[in-house]
This record gives sequence, C-alpha cells and structure tokens, in this order.
Amino acid sequence: TQDKVKKLIELRAEAKLGGGVNRIEAQHNKGKFTARERIELLLDEGSFEEFDMFVTHRCTNFGMEKKKFLGDGVVTGHGTIDGRVVYVFSQDFTVFGGSLSETFAQKICKVMDMAMKAGAPLIGINDSGGARIQEGVTSLAGYAEIFERNILASGVIPQISAIFGPCAGGAVYSPALTDFIMMTEQNSYMFVTGPKVVKTVTGEDISVEDLGGGKVHAAKSGVSHFLVEDEKEGLMLIRKLLTFLPQNNLEDPIVTESSDPIDRMDDFLNEIIPENPNQPYDVTDVISSIVDYSEFLEIHRNYAKNIVVGFAKFDGQPVGIVANQPNYLAGVLDIEASRKAARFVRFCDSFNIPIITLVDVPGFLPGSKQEYGGIITHGAKLMFAYGEATVPKITVTLRKSYGGAHDVMSCKQLRGDLNYAWPTAEIAVMGASGAVEVLHGRKLAEIEDPEERAKYIATHEEEYKEKFANPYQAAALGYIDDIIEPRNTRFRIIRGLQSLATKKLVNPPKKHSNIPL
Ligand code: COA
Repeated sequence: TQDKVKKLIELRAEAKLGGGVNRIEAQHNKGKFTARERIELLLDEGSFEEFDMFVTHRCTNFGMEKKKFLGDGVVTGHGTIDGRVVYVFSQDFTVFGGSLSETFAQKICKVMDMAMKAGAPLIGINDSGGARIQEGVTSLAGYAEIFERNILASGVIPQISAIFGPCAGGAVYSPALTDFIMMTEQNSYMFVTGPKVVKTVTGEDISVEDLGGGKVHAAKSGVSHFLVEDEKEGLMLIRKLLTFLPQNNLEDPIVTESSDPIDRMDDFLNEIIPENPNQPYDVTDVISSIVDYSEFLEIHRNYAKNIVVGFAKFDGQPVGIVANQPNYLAGVLDIEASRKAARFVRFCDSFNIPIITLVDVPGFLPGSKQEYGGIITHGAKLMFAYGEATVPKITVTLRKSYGGAHDVMSCKQLRGDLNYAWPTAEIAVMGASGAVEVLHGRKLAEIEDPEERAKYIATHEEEYKEKFANPYQAAALGYIDDIIEPRNTRFRIIRGLQSLATKKLVNPPKKHSNIPL
C-alpha cells in the first residue's frame, strides 16, 4: 500500500503543477497569479477542498490524446470565506491557455450543481483562451451547460465573476449572466470578438485594452461592476462583498455587531444642501455620514455616475443604497443610470437586502438622444424594479423630486414602506422656472418689456415655490410619512429598518414578470 500512497502523492503533486513550472513562470511574469494561488488568496486559510483533480480531457483530434494534464485546466472545489461556505472554479491558463473542453465544462457544472444543492455562493475566476479549438462543438455545448446553470442559479445563490485574464467569444456570457463582474486594470479583457476579427469585419483598428479592457467595461459599457488595481485587491473585495450578502435567497444577510451609535448625529447634514437649488453637493458625503463606520462598498463606481449604488450597514444590518448624485449631471436619470440602478434594486430584492433610497433628482434627461435610445423603456426598468421589490424600502428625499422621476425613485405608491423628507425637499411636477413657462406661456409672450417680464416670472416662480418647493404638500397628503431633521437621518433609518424587519409581502403568482428589457 505504501507504493499506492506514494503514487497518489505524486499524482497530486503533478496535478498541482497544472501546465508545468515553465508556464507557471510565464503566468507570474505577466503579473498574474496561478489558478491555485488565486483560490488560496480568496479563501480562508486551509479551507479549500478540491474536486476532480484527476480529470483529463477525452479529445483525440490533432494528437491531443498524447497531451493530457491532470485537472484539465480548471481548479474546482469549495472552501470558506469568513467561515461561510463558497464554491469556486478557477481557470488555469497554464493548461491549453485555460481553454474550455468538454470535461473542463463538466467540472464547472459539478461545482455549480453543488453550490445550488448547498445554497452557497459561486465564485468563478476566469482566465481563458475560450473554447478549446481542438474539441470543436463539444466545448460549445459545454459552455451552454454552464450558461443554463448560471441562469437557473440567478436569484437563488449569489454568483460572482472575476476576470483575471482573457475572456472572449462565447466565454463572456457566463460572467455576463452572473450578479457581479470584476476586472483588473491590466491583463483583464472581455469581448465577443477580438481586435483581429473586428479589423477584418469592420475595418476598425482598436487595441485589446480599448476594445474590452477593465477600464472600458467599468466606465463605458458598464459590463463590469468593479475595477481593481490587481488580483489581490480583487480577491479581497470579493470577500468584503460577501459580508453584505446572504448565502442564498432563502436566507437573510447576516446582521453583525456594530458599535457605531445608532443615534450618532452629524450636524453638517443640516447644512449640506446649498441655498441655491442649482448648486451641487456630493451625495456620497451624506452616505458616509449616515452608515456604520462610514463604510460604503460602491458598485459601478465609474459608470453612470449620476446615480450611486452600493452596500453599507445600518446598526450591523446590510442594506443596498441607491442615491441620485447631484455632483454629476445634476443627478438626472438617463438610460445608463436607470439600467444601473434597476439591476441593483433587483439584486437586493432577490437576496432579501433592504433598500435605502436617497432622492435628489431633477427629472429624466430630455432630448432626442435619450428618446431614440429608449429612455422610456430603460426608465421603466427602474420603476418596475422598485415596484416589484418586496424587501423593506426606506426613501429619504433630500432635495428635488420632480415629475416622473419622483415616482420612479421609490415613492410611496410604488411600495415605498417609509418615505421621509428633509425640510429642504422639493416635491413637485417640475422645477419653478419650467412650471411658470408652461403655466404662463401665453401671458409671457404678450409682455414686451424685458424688465416687466422678469418681474412677472419672479413673482410667479415665488408663488410656485411657496406652494411646491417644499415637502409639506406631500406630507399633508401622507405621501411623506414624516419630515425629518437631516442630522437625525441615521437614527430614523435604523428605527425604520427595525420596524420593517418582519415585513412580509408577496407578489401575485405568475410564471415570471415581463420587465421591459
Ligand atoms: N484552444 C486551444 N488552445 C488554446 C486556446 C484555445 N481556445 N487558446 C489558447 N490556447 C493555447 C495556445 O495554443 C497556447 O498553447 P502552446 O503554448 O502550447 O502553443 C497556449 O494556450 C497559450 O496561448 P497563447 O496564445 O500563447 O497566449 P497569449 O497570452 O499570447 O494569448 C489569447 C492569449 C487568449 C489572446 C490567445 O491564445 C487567443 O487568441 N486564443 C484564442 C481565442 C479564441 O478566439 N477563442 C475562441 C473563442 S470562443
């Protein structure tokens, strides 16, 4: 038996070398970790249990039967993060460029099935040349097996994708179906067709980075949710992200001990709203002031900056925060902002994470560009997401809340549970100047003297502001539950969350909704 044990030990050592020392060195020379090193960094020390390290491919084309590597290019298994179970797969670029074979896909499907059975998050680390060319269609079928599992797992277990190398062609669609995508600033790229094909088909000359690098997907396409400097930072961020999430959709996120006082008041909040309604301020200052320890994990930080979304805690309770950002495009809702926030709201609702909405929105961005781009459909996504969500929802209107955008931003009638307003809130159909233009257009056209005209406008704007540029009309109708002192916002939100902890709301039975996509 000693020989048998020795053989096992040798085979394990061989499997752990993947494509061999030279290729490991090449990987390191590119500034990349290997598949196994990444898993070690991600998981709690010593917690990794590997599956299928003796799996090899079954391909016999092009002499492939002579080239086999134990494990076949992907490392799979489970381990823990802060003591909670997660399932992982990590593609090994040192074996056939991490390309996906039939057996490689089967290994991934196995951990996906295990994650679903156990109700535990799935983390995929991608670093691959795509479909294994020598295998032909079996590798395409393998992708589809993975995609189907991604789809069925959506909304059941959190799925997180890290892109630490190439991810091209059909391969992009597995990450795209997951909840969060992370990319590194260098070495990480995603595209459906690479620069060479782009050049041939369209004549466009573009570099790998400009076509599908981490920066591009974080800022321009919004495909990626997180941009990190290096792999280590990325892996630590995944650990952090999981602290806000439950293991699956049947559990609540874990409430942790917090020593940040619930009644901590920040006087500066009483003064953060500028006198001039057209002057911006940074809503992330409000967020950091009210959440536990000022800790906010922002998602899509570089994309659609006119809306801010991310995770934080209130007295240890994880929440999702959605906030209009007056500092960027005046916090207007446009196509990108609507899509960004809608997806986030739906994620939170899938995983029982209460949603806090901070409103300061001048409306939807007007113009043909937005209309032709389908702002109606995209804005409807956000409205749909809020209106369908059954998790506790607390809305605080800080300043503007105008028109259709008022309805979209978690108003009372779209199942807002608690709707608070600061005394600086302006809840109306539109801003004063627009309203006077419309209401008094005929009269204004008749006034020829510019001075008299200006006076007329000023008087009527004043009248309009008096009536609507405040939260009192909405409060008188019960659309706003209370007008609160800004510096007390943290306390009121925490009290609200406590009161809503047992909230139960169920949507009517249906196969699924038909959200405007
Ligand atoms: N199938 C089989 N083998 C693959 C592969 C694939 N899809 N992608 C890469 N490999 C192999 C390479 O042949 C090479 O093997 P070798 O060292 O034995 O010659 C090894 O993996 C490393 O690849 P290499 O091209 O040297 O690495 P690179 O870092 O220079 O380039 C890519 C990486 C991904 C840009 C490049 O390999 C590539 O373009 N691959 C094909 C991508 C593709 O179109 N896939 C199909 C999409 S579904």
